[in-house]
Parts: sequence; structure tokens; C-alpha cells
Amino acid sequence: MKTTLTLLLACLFLGSAPLRAAEEFRPIKLQSLRGDTPVDKTNEAEMFKQEKDRAPLPRDFVQQPPLIPHSIRGYNITANFNKCMDCHAWSKARQANATKVSLTHFKDRDGKELANISPRRYFCTQCHVPQTDAKPLVGNTFEKAETLKPQ
Ligand code: HEC
Ligand code: HEC
Repeated sequence: MKTTLTLLLACLFLGSAPLRAAEEFRPIKLQSLRGDTPVDKTNEAEMFKQEKDRAPLPRDFVQQPPLIPHSIRGYNITANFNKCMDCHAWSKARQANATKVSLTHFKDRDGKELANISPRRYFCTQCHVPQTDAKPLVGNTFEKAETLKPQ
């Protein structure tokens, strides 16, 4: 009985060893997001067109960072200057006909109210994104919050 079991185990071990070795040394197929395009070339197929400027887009849930309904080409955000605030700051919004940055953007991480945009809300495009004609990469069955559906 014992010998049969040992034999069986030995067979199993020996049988699977070459297989494991083959798996370990099989080359991994890597596919970068750029496809086969060399680094010094532009991947034309992956260039997306910016959507036309339009009115603010509907939101899908209450806490959603609103999507940017306009082009942001050339709107730089650097350590010293934030182009977005040129129109969205409270002192400029009315004149620019833009939405004021949210009140929530003046709170620091401890909930303290600041007089200017909070550092954690400084890099606008971390959360707000402009729209292009890119196809979604994956499917999505997300549904709008009930309260945001048109009645
Ligand atoms: C030249 C002025 C200007 C600049 C600069 C600008 N915006 Fe705007 N933005 C507007 C205007 C005007 C609207 C539309 C307001 C409307 O029609 O109600 C708008 C709308 C938006 C909205 C939608 C608000 C909503 O309620 O849905 C977001 C988000 C936004 N902008 C983010 C940004 C970000 C981020 C930047 C910087 C990368 C930026 N904007 C730079 C003028 C500007
Ligand atoms: C960490 C994420 C985050 C960053 C960074 C951020 N926002 Fe927002 N923003 C939000 C969210 C979430 C909302 C909607 C809920 C709210 O008002 O807080 C919002 C709302 C807004 C609105 C709509 C306000 C309204 O009254 O409806 C504007 C305009 C806006 N943000 C502009 C900006 C600009 C300009 C910057 C950069 C200076 C910025 N945001 C940075 C997350 C962010």
C-alpha cells in the first residue's frame, strides 16, 4: 500500500515537473498601450478628438466631479499659476461666465476653511476631465442615482 502511494506520488511529481519548467520559461507577451509604435513616433490611431465646447454635462451621482465641457488645450497648471482659476475663481467666475469652484474646494484635509483653493484641490485635472471621442475601454452598467434621473 505504502509503495503504491509513493510510486503514485513520484509519478505525479515527475509528470508535472517538465510542465512547470516549460511554463516558467515561456516568454511573457507584453503589449504596451502604444502598440508597436516606436517611442519617437506618434500613434495616429490612438489620437482622440476633443469634443466641442458645450454647456455643462449632466452628473451621474451627487459627489461626481463635473466633467469639463470645454477644451483645456494650453491651460497649464504649474506651481505658480493655475489657468483654470483664471475663470473659475470666485473673483473671476462672474466675468468669465463660468461656474465658481465648489465651496468644498476651500477646505484643507482637516476640514479647516481656507481663503483660497486648498492644495488638495489645486490640480484640477486629477478629478475633472475633458471629453474626447475615445471609445470606452471596458463595458459599464452603471446607472444614474435615482434622484438624478429626469422625472
Ligand atoms: C477662459 C475661461 C475658462 C478657463 C480658463 C477654464 N474654464 Fe472651465 N468653464 C468655463 C466656462 C465659461 C464654463 C461653462 C459654464 C456654463 O456654461 O455654465 C466652464 C465649465 C467648467 C466645468 C463644468 C462645471 C459644471 O457645473 O458642470 C468644469 C468642471 C470646468 N469648467 C473645469 C475647468 C478646469 C479643470 C479648467 C482648467 C484645466 C478650466 N475649467 C478652465 C470657463 C473656463
Ligand atoms: C480631488 C478632486 C477634485 C479636485 C482636485 C478639484 N475638484 Fe472640482 N469638484 C470635485 C467634486 C467631487 C465636485 C462636486 C462636489 C463638490 O462640489 O465638491 C467638484 C465641483 C467643481 C465645480 C462645480 C461647482 C458647482 O457649484 O457645481 C467646479 C466649477 C470645479 N469643481 C472646478 C474645479 C477647479 C477649477 C479645480 C482646480 C483649481 C478643481 N475643481 C479641483 C472634485 C475635485
